[in-house]
Amino acid sequence: MRSLDTYRWETGARRAASRRPWVIAHRGASGLAPENTLAAIELAIDLGVDMVEADVTVAREGEPVVIHDETLERTTDGSGRVLDTPLAALRALDAGAWFDDAFAGQRVPTLDEVLALADGRVVLNLEIKTESLRLDPDEVVRTPPPGGVVARLVDTVRRRDLGEAVLVSSFDPRALMQLRTLAPEIRCAALYTPRVHDGLTPSQIAAQAGSCALHLTSSQATPARVEAAHRAGLAVMVYSTRRAPVNDAAAMWPILGRGVDGICTDRPDRFLELLRG
Ligand code: G3P
Ligand code: MG
Repeated sequence: MRSLDTYRWETGARRAASRRPWVIAHRGASGLAPENTLAAIELAIDLGVDMVEADVTVAREGEPVVIHDETLERTTDGSGRVLDTPLAALRALDAGAWFDDAFAGQRVPTLDEVLALADGRVVLNLEIKTESLRLDPDEVVRTPPPGGVVARLVDTVRRRDLGEAVLVSSFDPRALMQLRTLAPEIRCAALYTPRVHDGLTPSQIAAQAGSCALHLTSSQATPARVEAAHRAGLAVMVYSTRRAPVNDAAAMWPILGRGVDGICTDRPDRFLELLRG
């Protein structure tokens, strides 16, 4: 398993021919299997990725679970808000058939299950989902996020002693600042959002919560911003979005040309193939 010490992989003495940008599977290998399921994560690990990104929120009782949306409709056969759904009801849902019948029976995993699957095999990028972006940006930095998600994530990661193999990220600076207070040993990355970070330099964004990396969309990863982040010692990762997918070689090449440290893609198989070539 690759060490997060080398996330900013081109720096000084760490530079070596054998190094390569981090191959990060977005929501698992989500182009090939239903996102954020154990099947998608297992497939990504089998492909040989360096890191798996997964989205973390909490069920009604506060148990951390891995699912992207605030609601269940898109990726399960259930309905309603995840935060309002008891864990047992959440676990009864099918989270695979929407993608392909071959994946019927996949469940919404708990964070603990994902940690158990990844244990020692791959680094996890746990993205904390909160509802903060609906708040005024000034409010965002004052109060901890609701639902206790950060504290529960920290407990779950510590119980398995996997802090070294976890990178926590969030669009919500409150979540990262709370993480810094509760678990200074766990690394974090700031997910850039103009709503909160407009006008701030990469080093100012990172300083808010002691982040070691800046995670950006391809259009946000301008050469100037990448360079400023690198000057501040931060790793830079570009992730795929629906509007700006980074899921084929044509999209990956120009991003690699900007010297980023990793790409988070729904098709890590294609990224690995590109790097092999
Ligand atoms: O962590 C990178 C990326 O996953 C952030 O956006 O909406 O895909 O979770 P989203
Ligand atoms: Mg995410």
